Amino acid sequence: TYEKAWLAAAMVLIVGFIATITYGAVGPGIAMIDDEAGSIDPDNINDHERFGDPGVEHVGGNEYEVNVVAQAWLYTPDQIEVPENSEVTFYVTSRDVTHSFSVVGTNVNTMVIPGQVSEMTVQFDEPGEYGILCNEYCGEGHHTMEGLLTVV
Ligand code: CUA
Repeated sequence: TYEKAWLAAAMVLIVGFIATITYGAVGPGIAMIDDEAGSIDPDNINDHERFGDPGVEHVGGNEYEVNVVAQAWLYTPDQIEVPENSEVTFYVTSRDVTHSFSVVGTNVNTMVIPGQVSEMTVQFDEPGEYGILCNEYCGEGHHTMEGLLTVV
């Protein structure tokens, strides 16, 4: 019947919308991943191998990993330094509420959700200073939540 055909067409559209939204959220270059050990426990971040001692790690060649913990209302570390022409993968998690981690002037702009690890990779070719800020309202100190990434 026509009703069934229309119903099927509507279902296809709905699935299509959901697929589009999902792709947009986890699209190229920016991926939300669970930690290797599954979800991360926001109350035990200090014992975590990646986030217990957050900061910059040189992992070989021009590749760096930067582990960052967000909490109201600061990033640890809040000063990040990497050399020019480096490929930097950020791993960011939250100790408390939902924040964001955004590096001004790059495509790094991700939500940071307690219990999850946000991962994104970006190439820094030019020396310069890049502001880091939180784009997700997280309480009265939200506007003071910032850091600085320096490419030397
Ligand atoms: Cu953290 Cu807004």
